[in-house]
Amino acid sequence: MKLWGAILIAAFLSSALIVVGAIVQRAPSGSSVEALAGPRKTLDPLFPAPPFAFTSQRGEQVTSEKLRGQPYVANFIFTTCRTVCPLLTSKLVQAQRALTGVEVRFVSFSVDPAHDTPEVLAAYAKQWAPDEARWLLLATTPTTLPALAAGFHVTAEKNTAPNAIDSVIHSAVFVLVDGEGQVRGVYDSDHREDFEALLRDTRTLTRSRAGEKVLAATGKSGDVLYHELSCVACHERPELAPPLRGLLGKTREMEASNLVTVDREYLRESIVAPDLKRVRGYPLKMPSYDGLIADEDLTVLVDWLAQRPLEAAAVADDATLETDPVCHMKVRTGATALHVDHAGHQVWFCSELCRDRFVKTPAAFDQ
Ligand code: HEC
Repeated sequence: MKLWGAILIAAFLSSALIVVGAIVQRAPSGSSVEALAGPRKTLDPLFPAPPFAFTSQRGEQVTSEKLRGQPYVANFIFTTCRTVCPLLTSKLVQAQRALTGVEVRFVSFSVDPAHDTPEVLAAYAKQWAPDEARWLLLATTPTTLPALAAGFHVTAEKNTAPNAIDSVIHSAVFVLVDGEGQVRGVYDSDHREDFEALLRDTRTLTRSRAGEKVLAATGKSGDVLYHELSCVACHERPELAPPLRGLLGKTREMEASNLVTVDREYLRESIVAPDLKRVRGYPLKMPSYDGLIADEDLTVLVDWLAQRPLEAAAVADDATLETDPVCHMKVRTGATALHVDHAGHQVWFCSELCRDRFVKTPAAFDQ
């Protein structure tokens, strides 16, 4: 109780340098869920998931009872966290994409009841996976959160390490719960074998082979891929990740202190093997898209990135920059720029994709 109190206050006051949602290395530790992480030979039940009742981002009451009958993949996040959660969420969204057509739910429990209301969670969901109907983001309360965390054997700890930048790069787990409410697997989201085991085990539990086929090119344009693969959710927020504009030919400094000149090969490698060269100064890790993007799509995306100009647009004299409420990209205003009139003011968009998402559910983006 005391620990949770400290975490919640810390989470509320400062978004930086907090390790959230448990979980960290595979150090054996009696009652922690991370000791169970990793691929297993069998899918025997590990322990029962705790009972709960929380409000979802859609304003519905979701209980553990109501989730019976279908497996779910759970994780633990909070929306203002800048270090671990964007990586966790991007991996969850990658799992959603890889499990397209599989009858499984994805449940993200917020560990920041003070801030993460259902409305805030709705905006977060829209930013990461606007079209994902199987994703539930649940707003916990200060009184119910401790029992939930204890029931899943999840802990959250403030990082007090002196070399904080590196030590906040922790992994966090996904928990696979079956239709009877039994935990059947725990996976470190940052281990490739674990991620693959999660996909495999979910298919086994749901007896589904959907989405297993070899990756096919989507034929989508670079900017649509940039949105749909959630690149936008990190890279349009300079506090999280470097802006991907005007990069070709630029010299970048890496974590290993070496300098790299950006070419197409570097851009490609950044997407499918991001750990090989890490840009200096970002505590957040970039998720690998290896095996999750078809080669043709990767080429289209790399070409689009390579040609992306430094500025949002050559700003006309009378144009100002506004923020697209859906993807947070800076966009220029002006008579020919994409916009809609909403609640008495004009709202600006980078693309028809974002405009259509906004028009469908404007309330999700009003913040
Ligand atoms: C969870 C957040 C996140 C997501 C999602 C994400 N990235 Fe990144 N990306 C980062 C961070 C942080 C860095 C800098 C640290 C590093 O190099 O690992 C980075 C670095 C890069 C770089 C190197 C940039 C430079 O300045 O040298 C490229 C290129 C890149 N990402 C492309 C992409 C593309 C394309 C996508 C989508 C397919 C994507 N990223 C998705 C967080 C993210």
